[in-house]
Amino acid sequence: MTVYLNGRFLPLAEARISPLDRGFLFGDGVYEVIPVYSRRPFRLDEHLSRLQTSLDGIHLPNPLSLEGWRTMIGQLVASADFVDQSVLLQVTRGADDKRDHAFPQGVAPTVFAFTAPLVTPSDATRAAGIAAITAPDTRWQRCDLKTISLLANVLARQQAVDAGAVETLLLRDGLLTEGAASSIFVVSEGVLLAPPKDHRVLPGITYDLVLELAARHGVSYAVRDISERELRAADELWMTSSTKEILPIVRLDGLPVGHGRPGPLAQQMYAWYRAFRDDVMRNADV
Ligand code: PDD
Repeated sequence: MTVYLNGRFLPLAEARISPLDRGFLFGDGVYEVIPVYSRRPFRLDEHLSRLQTSLDGIHLPNPLSLEGWRTMIGQLVASADFVDQSVLLQVTRGADDKRDHAFPQGVAPTVFAFTAPLVTPSDATRAAGIAAITAPDTRWQRCDLKTISLLANVLARQQAVDAGAVETLLLRDGLLTEGAASSIFVVSEGVLLAPPKDHRVLPGITYDLVLELAARHGVSYAVRDISERELRAADELWMTSSTKEILPIVRLDGLPVGHGRPGPLAQQMYAWYRAFRDDVMRNADV
């Protein structure tokens, strides 16, 4: 597998970073995950703009220009022998010669990227839906930044796995925020509900597409706070992300969501999403 590290393309086995890298020592860095369909990165500009927001949020100058990112990603995508891919970009504050919390001076950031086959949920998983649990959202107050400091997300996701579930839905101050690694949508009395994009959640690129598709197809929707009570009374729950696309949640904390089967709006939205993906994404840079 070919990866990109600090300006060079090289085999993964030859890629080396220092153990003093601040990503390793402090989780001091940011990342992006970009789905690629038929070798076309999906919403690349939006992902690169979110990367810029994350870099600005941690006061790390962008090491590459927009054109630099586009060219590098294009080369990486072309180098793989599979067409549907998941590209990871990661930038850390680099490796100093000592360990000090404060920013180092004159240290080059570490820039890493690699691509893997895009593995989306199987048709069987999508048809059955998945189980989720809830847990308190113990993360910091800047969840809008896509940082590599993911320990709270890792623990939350593992809590789901330990409970035989797929995702953990996080609750902060009695309100739904998001999943351990996904955005969450609620359908309540025919209305699609989404938590607002603020410091409590990552602004999902898939989230934006779902709301665009809802608007285009005349689905009534609202972006507002969602209480734990509304979450538990939902007719439908979905998780969305670049790699999971749109996945219905049919059990929450062991209880059925709605009728305990993927709901009609989830199925409709996935059909719109799939059509968009196959008709538009595979054929143009959008
Ligand atoms: N995660 N919220 C969190 C906390 C996430 O980690 C993700 C995605 C999302 C959905 O964002 P998007 O639709 O832009 O993928 C929401 C990626 C896939 C990951 O960490 O692997």
